[in-house]
Amino acid sequence: MSLKIVDLSFGYDELLFSNLDLELETNKITLLQGDNGSGKTTFCRLLSGLEKNYSGQILLDNIKISELKAKQIAEKLIYLKQEPIGNTVAATPEEDLSIWQGILEKNLSMKQQNERMQALEKMQIKELIHSPFWEMSGGQVKRAGLAAMLLYPQKYWILDEPFSGLHPEIVNILLEILLERKNNGFGALIISHKQNIFDSLFDITFRIEDRRILKNED
Ligand SMILES: Nc1ncnc2c1ncn2[C@@H]1O[C@H](COP(=O)(O)OP(=O)(O)OP(=O)(O)O)[C@@H](O)[C@H]1O
Ligand SMILES: [Mg+2]
Repeated sequence: MSLKIVDLSFGYDELLFSNLDLELETNKITLLQGDNGSGKTTFCRLLSGLEKNYSGQILLDNIKISELKAKQIAEKLIYLKQEPIGNTVAATPEEDLSIWQGILEKNLSMKQQNERMQALEKMQIKELIHSPFWEMSGGQVKRAGLAAMLLYPQKYWILDEPFSGLHPEIVNILLEILLERKNNGFGALIISHKQNIFDSLFDITFRIEDRRILKNED
């Protein structure tokens, strides 16, 4: 899978990115850092096809992302929001995962149902499977969102602050999952302020500076 950005400019009230050219190595684990408000979440939204009014091009497998349907994008990459509530219209983790699987697969097999339970178990959220999201803590919602990612290891993962608000035990489980991804050649873009703790995880580090995204050795 390839993900390229060509001469991209975008901002809401003020310009956040100006004439950006970048290719993400989608088989590597990439860290993106930047100040609060520098545009990290906006960059995730752009890559996921959620922002439309930009100039330049975002190319997913050499096709303009603006010409793809949400489902076509979701076949190749998935995005865990910084505040993951609202990834789908689901009321509970069980509904959330079945909506994900239902959107991406035609018939839900027994194997897929088992995978769903395993993902919830891995994130230690199985006992909350029928709990409404609005009764959960922020960390619990995040764990349910991460469980959904686990169902699709072969897609490119975009994770906006996946470690924040998680108990250290779950942080370690997530780190193991990401290291396994790295060893299997599956990539991810990760937004995190905690680079030093996880130094060995990241193949590439980018930072947002002066409306550009720069590689850390640059
Ligand atoms: N929907 C929106 N409408 C208007 N301005 C927005 C919108 N979303 C974000 N912004 C502005 O764009 C800028 C970048 O926001 P963004 O959420 O991408 O930052 P961030 O780097 O993810 O910050 P943080 O580290 O706090 O998560 C901010 O100044 C923010 O106020
Ligand atoms: Mg953000």
